[in-house]
Amino acid sequence: MSQTSSALRPGGTVIVTGGAGFIGCAISPALVENFDRVVVVDNLHPQIHSSGSRPAELAAGAELVVADITLPETWDKVLQDVEPDVVIHLAAETGTGQSLEESTRHAHVNVVGTTQLLDGLNRSGRLPRRIVLSSSRAVYGEGAWRRQDGSLFHPGQRTSETLDLAQWDFPDAEPTAMKASETFPAPASVYGATKLAQENILQTWANAYGVETAILRLQNVYGPGQSLINPYTGIMSLFCRMAKSGKSIPLYEDGNVRRDFILIDDIASAIVAAAVSADVSKEPLDIGSGEFQTIGTAARLIAEHYGAPEPHVSGQYRQGDVRHAWADIEAAQRVLGWTPKVHLAEGIERLATWIDEQPDVQPA
Ligand SMILES: NC(=O)c1ccc[n+]([C@@H]2O[C@H](COP(=O)([O-])OP(=O)(O)OC[C@H]3O[C@@H](n4cnc5c(N)ncnc54)[C@H](O)[C@@H]3O)[C@@H](O)[C@H]2O)c1
Repeated sequence: MSQTSSALRPGGTVIVTGGAGFIGCAISPALVENFDRVVVVDNLHPQIHSSGSRPAELAAGAELVVADITLPETWDKVLQDVEPDVVIHLAAETGTGQSLEESTRHAHVNVVGTTQLLDGLNRSGRLPRRIVLSSSRAVYGEGAWRRQDGSLFHPGQRTSETLDLAQWDFPDAEPTAMKASETFPAPASVYGATKLAQENILQTWANAYGVETAILRLQNVYGPGQSLINPYTGIMSLFCRMAKSGKSIPLYEDGNVRRDFILIDDIASAIVAAAVSADVSKEPLDIGSGEFQTIGTAARLIAEHYGAPEPHVSGQYRQGDVRHAWADIEAAQRVLGWTPKVHLAEGIERLATWIDEQPDVQPA
């Protein structure tokens, strides 16, 4: 189903929540080009922003309002001055593992932060034409697997019992690509559950008010600009810091966990396309490179770059991690006229080059 907006064109005003983060900074130059006014609302969370100051990577033309999206007064103040045509909602707590221990914190920012934004828009009467949400492949949990007879099933969350026995895969079945039209959401982490709640709340609200939505389910984003201090996210930057300090990278499970790593530049072009394109889809769109790699492959490429020792299988596992994840990107390519361009090896070179240029990078 397609929602068409005849009025949508570059220009006007965009609000970006969490716009001072990794993805927000990366999209900021294109937003400044495409919109007349770009207003970032971000509390410069200390887990991501060690200095607490405006990131140098945020485009100069973007206005930064340092404020917490979970507070109603944030929205009353911002929306007094700003009339948004488009809202890009990025602000979130993003630690998959951390979300199990700090579920209230994740629910508060991700779920209540979203409802406060929507209530604030209502109170102001300034409803945007479109809201773009950066959702996550975490909403799928383990996704759909195919039995040997060809039938699909949704295996649900892996249990501590099977993981303790090192039964990583579901027996006699193969994983399939995540595809919004076929794969049921079944989160395997509190983080994933909060992202699904964001989607459902936004969709219900937007349907009621005739606001367009673009819900993008992002796979694993990596690349220059990724936080080098947040211990809870960013496996590629973590691996780079380990290899740079001469360590052998430990591989969880058996090292064959599959992920769809997508370079930040390719994510940025997808989000900007969702913000400015004439058409968006009511269905969520899966955004990734469209290919999977094992964690072992990614770690070996990084170890080779740094001349570090071979990665080793540690056999550890982390609650909330799913076994395999990659996106079917056909719908996103069709709807957004977008395509990812950068393959993993080149992306890793770009990430490592950027890390090497950063001052005071701490070993992981
Ligand atoms: N990076 C990925 O691999 C990935 C994958 C899937 C989905 N996503 C989604 O993309 C979005 C952005 O991710 P990112 O990688 O840029 O994360 P990030 O942590 O770099 O950026 C998030 C930003 O939100 C801000 N923020 C956090 N809590 C806030 C609050 N209460 N009020 C105002 N601002 C707040 C932070 O200061 C930060 O600048 C998130 O919604 C995340 O769930 C990211």
